[in-house]
Amino acid sequence: MKLGQSDVSVGMIAFGCWRFAGHDVATADRLIRTALDAGMNLIDTADIYGFDEFPDRTDKGFGQAEQRLGEVLAAAPSLRKQIVLATKGGIDAVRPYDSSYRYLMRAIDASLGRLKTDYVDLYQIHRPDLTTPMSEVARALNEMVDSGKTRLIGVSNFTVPQMRALQAHLAHPIVSVQPEFSALQQSALEDGHLDFAEEIGATVLAWSPLTGGKIPTTDGPVQSVLDAIANTYGISRGTAALAFTRGFGADVIPIIGTQNPKRITESGYAAQVNLIAREVYDVIEAYRGVSMP
Ligand SMILES: NC(=O)c1ccc[n+]([C@@H]2O[C@H](COP(=O)([O-])OP(=O)(O)OC[C@H]3O[C@@H](n4cnc5c(N)ncnc54)[C@H](OP(=O)(O)O)[C@@H]3O)[C@@H](O)[C@H]2O)c1
Repeated sequence: MKLGQSDVSVGMIAFGCWRFAGHDVATADRLIRTALDAGMNLIDTADIYGFDEFPDRTDKGFGQAEQRLGEVLAAAPSLRKQIVLATKGGIDAVRPYDSSYRYLMRAIDASLGRLKTDYVDLYQIHRPDLTTPMSEVARALNEMVDSGKTRLIGVSNFTVPQMRALQAHLAHPIVSVQPEFSALQQSALEDGHLDFAEEIGATVLAWSPLTGGKIPTTDGPVQSVLDAIANTYGISRGTAALAFTRGFGADVIPIIGTQNPKRITESGYAAQVNLIAREVYDVIEAYRGVSMP
């Protein structure tokens, strides 16, 4: 499938690097290759990933996940062309969000330096900065595309009105939106996020599709429905949860977070599982605690 309205081809499941910073380079390399083998070419990271993993460092680990991925790419340059490299900027641990032109232009340069590459495929604003005009955010994003520092742009954790306001000032389309979305966190279905993605032809990158590990490790009505679906298809509960995120009108790619090679491979099976509408509604009804009229 294509990422938004671009010509960039991506797999139906993506691999996330939030929990990636602590690996040595050999392990990091193995995880990226395992993800690629499982059909996940979109690799999602962010400059902030690693923060708080290394509290004894003066930077507290800011940039560490990008740094590790950069080391993998430097050691195996052929990997760069095989992956669709997505990163994010705009979280500054103190302020806490900064999407000023000056900050973002420095942030992408710093990300490129850590990732040891001339360009990323997708640059995303990590969280909306309520204090910076969208026209200024757009100026930075437009310039990133025009200068070739990123091929494509996206947003994360924006509301629909915030996405509209930003898009109004952009010379390039938003190709991806990244909300939290899982069987146990369905707000994106209700707040217009998925509908807006369809409106503008963007791909939804669903973060924490296993609700950060809660789906496989806890029990409840939603998990029971997922178990029944898992039983039907001969897959795990987690894989059923990933398949659920793909059951909608919008194009949704779940970004998996597991750092376990076996689970990465197993997650790839979710690309082959297309739930029927009744199964999708069963999960929604279990989440809402009501039968839909
Ligand atoms: N834009 C944003 O604001 C934002 C925020 C958060 C995340 N993200 C993106 O979304 C990606 C995924 O987030 P996430 O890591 O929260 O994803 P997730 O897939 O919801 O959760 C992953 C966690 O679940 C655990 N897990 C998975 N299967 C398990 C099982 N069968 N039994 C026990 N534990 C299991 C994993 O542990 P193991 O490693 O041990 O399997 C890992 O700790 C991130 O890497 C990042 O790219 C974006």
